[in-house]
Amino acid sequence: MLNPQLNKNGELQHLLTIEGLPRAILTHILDTASSFVSIGDREVKKVPLMRGKSVFNLFFENSTRTRTTFEIASKRLSADVINLNIQASSTSKGESLLDTIDNLAAMHADMFVVRHAQSGAPFLIAKHLIDTKQSHVHVVNAGDGRHAHPTQGLLDMYTIRHYKKDFTNLRVAIVGDILHSRVARSDIHALTTLGVPEVRAIGPRTLLPSGLEQMGVRVFHNMEEGLKDVDVIIMLRLQNERMSGALLPSAQEFFKSYGLTPERLALAKPDAIVMHPGPMNRGVEISSAAADSPRSTVLDQVTNGVAVRMAILYLVIAGASEGGAHPALEAKPPQLEESRKTKGSANAGD
Ligand code: CP
Repeated sequence: MLNPQLNKNGELQHLLTIEGLPRAILTHILDTASSFVSIGDREVKKVPLMRGKSVFNLFFENSTRTRTTFEIASKRLSADVINLNIQASSTSKGESLLDTIDNLAAMHADMFVVRHAQSGAPFLIAKHLIDTKQSHVHVVNAGDGRHAHPTQGLLDMYTIRHYKKDFTNLRVAIVGDILHSRVARSDIHALTTLGVPEVRAIGPRTLLPSGLEQMGVRVFHNMEEGLKDVDVIIMLRLQNERMSGALLPSAQEFFKSYGLTPERLALAKPDAIVMHPGPMNRGVEISSAAADSPRSTVLDQVTNGVAVRMAILYLVIAGASEGGAHPALEAKPPQLEESRKTKGSANAGD
């Protein structure tokens, strides 16, 4: 099958999905993110690695964390960032997605960061750019329908590695509406690729997709059984906007069976961490006591999202030069080398 996200040297040309990416690429992204973390602690939070590049944020669906952290990441790399206001754009006059892309590419865009409610929209854009000989323009998937959210998956892996150090001895539970979750799919692909021996999916039958076992996942319908002795708990929101028909009696009933409470958290290992990609719905999938507990890494995930997205933007541009760093990236600025040496800092200990 066409895999437009890799160039002929197997380097990242676009980032569309974690599925099928080799472990070495995932690890390289996480290692590169580690080297970017300390930039956020500086007085001048900027390096010139993407100076002169234009990154277009195209969010056809709402976002708080992803859109903002992509904007911060681009600015920290000194790129020019254009946030297209979709509601005020000519898409409302009937312009097609690909016509919009061609017009923005004609403005010398270097990269599109795309969120779309339709699964496959970023893939379609990447294929169109290749077919129309505009391969110098890159696409990063910022979440498409229920298909994939690769940058969230990677920042989740960064967070897990930071706290747990080694993927190869972990038990990870993903809880809730996995059927409609692009985050769950990306997390499962990343966890299994990185060598996690036991990935669990916990939820009611109506919210679990078929085929989980084939992806190497153990399925639980009972929350208490599924949480027993896990190292990591990833809670998911009920994605009502992607549900067709009533799949649950009520949000209150869901909380009774699958909500994360301190009592349920106590079933996991004593040092288990609690993750959530956000936005959280307190009292539906997670209690405030669990969300705000010292074991919650929810806000760390957001912070890590900046460095991980910097790494992705940088590597997608660098990988595109087929056989080496992009000319603009060949000379590593001293700041970056310096940040690599300070790996012992609070957030770079992984
Ligand atoms: N986790 C996540 O994708 O959040 P946003 O929808 O706010 O970007």
